[in-house]
Amino acid sequence: MTVEFILNNKRIVLDAYAETRLIDILRSSYKLTGAKAGCLSGVCGACIVLYNGEAVKSCLIPAFRIGGSTILTLEGFAETDEYCDIVAGLTATGMEGCLYCRAGKILTIASLLAKNARPNRQEILAAFDGIRCRCTDPDSLVDTVMAVAAIRQRRLYGRS
Ligand code: FES
Ligand code: FES
Repeated sequence: MTVEFILNNKRIVLDAYAETRLIDILRSSYKLTGAKAGCLSGVCGACIVLYNGEAVKSCLIPAFRIGGSTILTLEGFAETDEYCDIVAGLTATGMEGCLYCRAGKILTIASLLAKNARPNRQEILAAFDGIRCRCTDPDSLVDTVMAVAAIRQRRLYGRS
């Protein structure tokens, strides 16, 4: 089948089998390797991309659901000011980790803060429910997201 979509701000026309996973399309056809092929069963969150603005596991998206969508991978998101805010927060709190689920963490923070600029602890933990990061504990995760939120507020409004 032929699918048309927007990938990292570029219009794409792709021939693919209807059931091919988005994670495989990204890594094989476009060499976008920021999203990792981990469990391939929707558990680990290493394969997350922004799909129509939402943090979504790309191993669960077949090609037939790509048509008409807007997809931003870690590589595309890395061009934004929001990415710089998140990296600054991760660095400040020492939360870089092993980088395996970096795309999942960064894009989940991006999706959360786009909807909720100052999330509380419960909201942060709920947003990260679908990521199994071995390098993170809940308290550090909450501290990091709050640090990113403050950095973002300062950039946007000159105050946190
Ligand atoms: S590879 Fe998609 S959730 Fe693990
Ligand atoms: S940073 Fe998530 S598994 Fe290591």
